[in-house]
Amino acid sequence: MSRWLAAATLHDALRDADPAEFVTDVVHPPGVGARWPRHLLHGPACAHRLLEEGVRDEALLRAVAYHTTGHPDLDEMGEYLYLADFLDPGRDFMHEKRGSLRGRLPGERSAVLLEVIGLRIGHLLERRSTILEETLRFWNRVAAQTERT
Ligand SMILES: [Fe+2]
Repeated sequence: MSRWLAAATLHDALRDADPAEFVTDVVHPPGVGARWPRHLLHGPACAHRLLEEGVRDEALLRAVAYHTTGHPDLDEMGEYLYLADFLDPGRDFMHEKRGSLRGRLPGERSAVLLEVIGLRIGHLLERRSTILEETLRFWNRVAAQTERT
C-alpha cells in the first residue's frame, strides 16, 4: 500500500471510537495525550496503533497523528492530509468557502494551507478555546514560508 493511500485510509480509523478508550499512554507521539482534548486523540491513537503494527515511517505517523491539529514538521503528504481533513466535500459546513479552497489546489497549496490553518484557529478563537502549540507553530512555519514566496 502506498504511503499516501495508507495515510488517507487510516488517519480516521479510530474517529468513531470512544475517546475514553484512548488512555494517555496509547498515543503516538507519547505525551500528547496529557495535553490534548480527547476528541483530537483519534489521530495520535491511530498513529500509536500503526507503530504497534510495525510502521516506522515517521512522516506517515506524524501525518496521521497531527491530521487535525497540524504540526510544523508535516511534510507534503502531511500537509495534504491536513487539507483533505478540512476540505473533504462530505463534511457539512462552509460548503462554498471550502469548495473555493479546493478549487485552488494544487496550484496555490501554500496559500490555501495558510488560509485553512487560519480558519481553524479563527474557529478556536471564536469559541474561546485553547490552541495547541503544535497548531501555532504550524501557522508560524507556513506563514513565514508564504511571506518568503
Ligand atoms: Fe480526524
